[in-house]
Amino acid sequence: MIGTSIEKAKAYLREEQVVAIPTETVYGLAGNAFSEAAVLKIFKVKNRPSFDPLIVHGPSWEVARSWVQTIPEELWTLAKALTPGPLTLLLEKKSIIPDLVTSGSRQVAIRIPQHPLTLKLLSAIDFPLAAPSANPFGYISPTTAGHVEQQLGEKIPYILDGGPCKIGLESTIVGMEDGQVTVYRKGGIAVEAIQAIIGKVRVRPHSSSNPKAPGMLKSHYAPRVPLYLGGIDERPANCRITQCGALRFKDYLPSIPQNQQFILSGNGDLDEAARQLFAGMRQLDSLSLDCILAELLPEQGLGRAINDRLRRAAAR
Ligand code: TXA
Ligand code: MG
Repeated sequence: MIGTSIEKAKAYLREEQVVAIPTETVYGLAGNAFSEAAVLKIFKVKNRPSFDPLIVHGPSWEVARSWVQTIPEELWTLAKALTPGPLTLLLEKKSIIPDLVTSGSRQVAIRIPQHPLTLKLLSAIDFPLAAPSANPFGYISPTTAGHVEQQLGEKIPYILDGGPCKIGLESTIVGMEDGQVTVYRKGGIAVEAIQAIIGKVRVRPHSSSNPKAPGMLKSHYAPRVPLYLGGIDERPANCRITQCGALRFKDYLPSIPQNQQFILSGNGDLDEAARQLFAGMRQLDSLSLDCILAELLPEQGLGRAINDRLRRAAAR
């Protein structure tokens, strides 16, 4: 069921059920992070491997501080400047956070989301919400309640509808490594915004093998129709030109019908492109095409996180 009742969401969560919640980044599949039963349900509904840990959501740092050992100074500076918002911190956990949530890691990923409904919900309960993105494992993240309903509607009792997500890309994940602030997943806060606050940071390159690199599974965020990076010349031989889709930044490809193309931002705004990205992928995925050709965006601002998602969508 889709609705806007915080009371209903709260009641299900108290019963250790999982419900979908809106955030500014993408919709989450939430359960009581202190309850192993609820956390197991999250992994099951999402069909997610248990080695991939979950982000823990809280109403404020005042509350969330009690779940972790300490917050290193640089990360605290970022938290103060950028949250509530699309920034997740990797911190040494206290034992109150079950190992199941962190897949056995001593670090927990914590985020204070910026969405009025979800902040209200988080303030109304006395436990944190573990929540991965509310999509089946490996598929495109949902940015509307309808997206969640299409894929998980049968499996969960309630979807809290908070409208379309304002950012549209998952949170940026940062932690400390060898005393240096390190970005593990590019996301809704641009690397430039972080560097403007604390100076140069390390950005982890893609890796599918490094266990410390979160959200770093190489093939991810992928539509069912094969996606390729580049123009029509890059498509494989079995993609008929009449059956190609295109995910474009600002303008249409002349050789493909326009109704098989999705423009991310007509005036080239990277924030708008981020907001549209997953909805665009879903729309093209629904058209029974042979393939989708996607164009990389400028490597700046949210363009870097968009390109990261596109590269993963293309990896198989
Ligand atoms: O914007 C977001 O972060 C959304 C919304 C719902 O908050 N959540 C989200 O969750 O994107 P998910 O599960 O789809 O991606 C979280 C990533 C995972 O790839 C996981 O590997 C990493 O964060 N992660 C979570 N906890 C971690 C931990 N303790 N150590 C290392 N990586 C962690
Ligand atoms: Mg996800």
